[in-house]
Amino acid sequence: MRGRQREMKVVVTLVLVVVFLGLCGSSSASDAQPQKWWQSIFSGSTSSAVNPVGSSVVFPLYGNVYPKGFYYVQMNIGQPPKPYFLDPDTGSDLTWLQCDAPCVHCTTGSHPLYRPNNNLVSCKDPLCAALHSSDEYDCDHPQQCDYEVEYADGGSSIGVLVQDGFLLNLTNGERRSPRLAFGCGYDQVPGSSNHPLDGVLGLGKGKSSIASQLSRQRLMRNVVGHCLSAQGGGFLFFGDDLYDSSRIVWTTMSRDYSYYSPGFAELLFGGKSTGYKKLLVVFDSGSSYSYLNSQAYQALVSLVTKELSGKPLREAQDDWTLQFCWKGKKPFKKIGDVRKYFKPLALGFENGLKSKSLYEIPPEGYLIISSKGNVCLGILNGTEVGIDFNMIGDISMQDKMVIYDNEKEVIGWTPANCDRIPKSKMDIM
Ligand SMILES: *[C@@H]1O[C@H](CO)[C@@H](O)[C@H](O)[C@H]1NC(C)=O
Ligand SMILES: *[C@@H]1O[C@H](CO)[C@@H](O)[C@H](O)[C@H]1NC(C)=O
Repeated sequence: MRGRQREMKVVVTLVLVVVFLGLCGSSSASDAQPQKWWQSIFSGSTSSAVNPVGSSVVFPLYGNVYPKGFYYVQMNIGQPPKPYFLDPDTGSDLTWLQCDAPCVHCTTGSHPLYRPNNNLVSCKDPLCAALHSSDEYDCDHPQQCDYEVEYADGGSSIGVLVQDGFLLNLTNGERRSPRLAFGCGYDQVPGSSNHPLDGVLGLGKGKSSIASQLSRQRLMRNVVGHCLSAQGGGFLFFGDDLYDSSRIVWTTMSRDYSYYSPGFAELLFGGKSTGYKKLLVVFDSGSSYSYLNSQAYQALVSLVTKELSGKPLREAQDDWTLQFCWKGKKPFKKIGDVRKYFKPLALGFENGLKSKSLYEIPPEGYLIISSKGNVCLGILNGTEVGIDFNMIGDISMQDKMVIYDNEKEVIGWTPANCDRIPKSKMDIM
């Protein structure tokens, strides 16, 4: 827990700034529209029960697993809309931007800080409640909703909820700018995997996530998907009209966790069981690498190492944070140079059905070629960094479309060409 005192002082400063802006700015006539959907949040009529909404929105992604270590998306937010680069994170719900509230501590972003404009979300708003566990939720400042998020890498953001327009070009040709709630972060601590971005795009399954808000506004179904290209880039989408559901491998989304998890899986190596059958798996686009718990990780390292005996690869130290690397007679240029030495991995999910849902991870999905030309294992020891489940990170999601359907409560995947950004369903299949 960080300095409470300091936090209070900041909150007061923010309130003053907002009051000042309130006196100067003219009140917006569009206030009536958001109020309607705020009220509808807890009315029980979620969009799944009402008429299906058949649109989607697609955003190009930039970045890569290596050497950048992250993907990012551009969102145009505010009136007039300004561009921000955000880290798409299926492992968290809240979207936030570094914000001039004023900023106590911001990290280096790509664009000027977002400026709030008399658009605070109040403390009694249901979305504010959704962000807090009940015991710590008090409305000391009724006119604002304070939040604090912490990430597994030690990074964090403190701020207040605001709402503003997000510019969306829908696949049905309409152009919309729905007002969505997000965090205005004025105190950020960078984590170990700090990225030079303007904020985080929360893609989780909680009520505060962007997909959930879009579906409550009846713009699209509460579905999130991404396609990360191994060449770098790719695309991200909301809504369900960009894929043919019959061509996706679906598995049940567990309700027992706040993360996207299909539950427990068995780890397969070269198509054979490793004996590790009860691995709790989570999909997290906010992580560049994948993680296994200590035992499964040890097993994987042993299997990979054993497989390399007699092959022209020798264990090597790299200047990279990855623990296991191997070098060849000559530096490797691409994964294709080493593919033949490594077997594919797979995760088999029980699913309650007769056949397992297999999530296949080819060598490209767990190895990188470092700048020194070594090949390194892109699956890390989760136990070492305090992750007690098993995590599928960006590296193992490349060249696949991964879809989180929060209404049907299923997670799906299929191999895909992520280099072509689809404009409609016809485009992608
Ligand atoms: C939406 O489309 C317009 C023109 O068709 C384009 O200028 C704009 O950049 C697009 N915005 C987004 C957020 O994709
Ligand atoms: C993984 O990390 C844990 C905790 O630091 C450690 O005890 C274990 O030996 C590590 N396993 C391997 C295979 O490195």
